[in-house]
Amino acid sequence: MNVVESIEEVRKHLDGAGSVGLIPTMGYLHEGHLSLLSRSRENDVTVMSIFVNPLQFGSTQDLETYPRDLDRDLAMATDAGVDVVFAPTPEEMFPRGYATNVDVGRIAEISEGARRPGHFNGVATVVAKLFNIVRPDRAYFGKKDAQQIAVIDQMAKDLDLAVEIVACPTLRESDGLAMSSRNVHLDPQERQAAAVLSKALFAGRDAVEAGERSGSAVAGIVGGIVKHEALARLDYVEVVDPVSFEQLDSIAGQATIVIAAFVGSTRLIDNVDV
Ligand code: PAJ
Repeated sequence: MNVVESIEEVRKHLDGAGSVGLIPTMGYLHEGHLSLLSRSRENDVTVMSIFVNPLQFGSTQDLETYPRDLDRDLAMATDAGVDVVFAPTPEEMFPRGYATNVDVGRIAEISEGARRPGHFNGVATVVAKLFNIVRPDRAYFGKKDAQQIAVIDQMAKDLDLAVEIVACPTLRESDGLAMSSRNVHLDPQERQAAAVLSKALFAGRDAVEAGERSGSAVAGIVGGIVKHEALARLDYVEVVDPVSFEQLDSIAGQATIVIAAFVGSTRLIDNVDV
């Protein structure tokens, strides 16, 4: 496996490489990240980027406490069969004088975007850069971050980016908790309590499958279950259109139930398609 830090080097490595798959990550790898890698085997070469993107963090505290362990990540990526890891420094990605921001409009400002101003435009900006640096044929993203995929789809469509965006299923722990780098912040009690997010989402999905068509009724069922968990504090639950992320009053076709909640001081997000 090759580990490269500079844009010039990664381009040199990929020169004449055949089909290229890109897996953008912020590191602190877990099985969820590796599941994207297994999907990327359809390409001749897989590049994984590991970069904690400062543009997508709202507070310097959240950025500073984001878990990092590059040595562990590199060992895991080697074992898993990544061909190239691109792990740039912040200065390589955003040198002095950097000014451009990708703004994807309304979809970045609603739902999760309303609670994290600037977050999705920060994601779109770094992903646009990664696409231009690596020039992948396909890029792999987890449905764990459903709105992130919708934002990137919007950007790729609007900017005619020649990359196929591949959405991959959410990997969960045995009790249903969606795998996330942030789960390491949970103490053992909180870790147990955190299963309430997926439990509540699945109950919401069951209600839809049983015939419930009101978005607010489904959101009420999901929120009610979270409120019963003393260690959890609901931020929001919404029933949205999976493409536009606009809230749905009534569920007619495809819908996604999205949730964010604090468990202790850790903010977790999850979602389920219905
Ligand atoms: P990060 O949180 O490291 O996630 C990297 C990729 O792994 C994302 O596409 C995410 O959706 C996916 N992923 C995370 N947990 C998953 C799970 N349990 N099952 C399946 N896939 C999962 O998302 C980011 O980084 C950043 O915003 C990034 C796209 C790299 C831009 O900085």
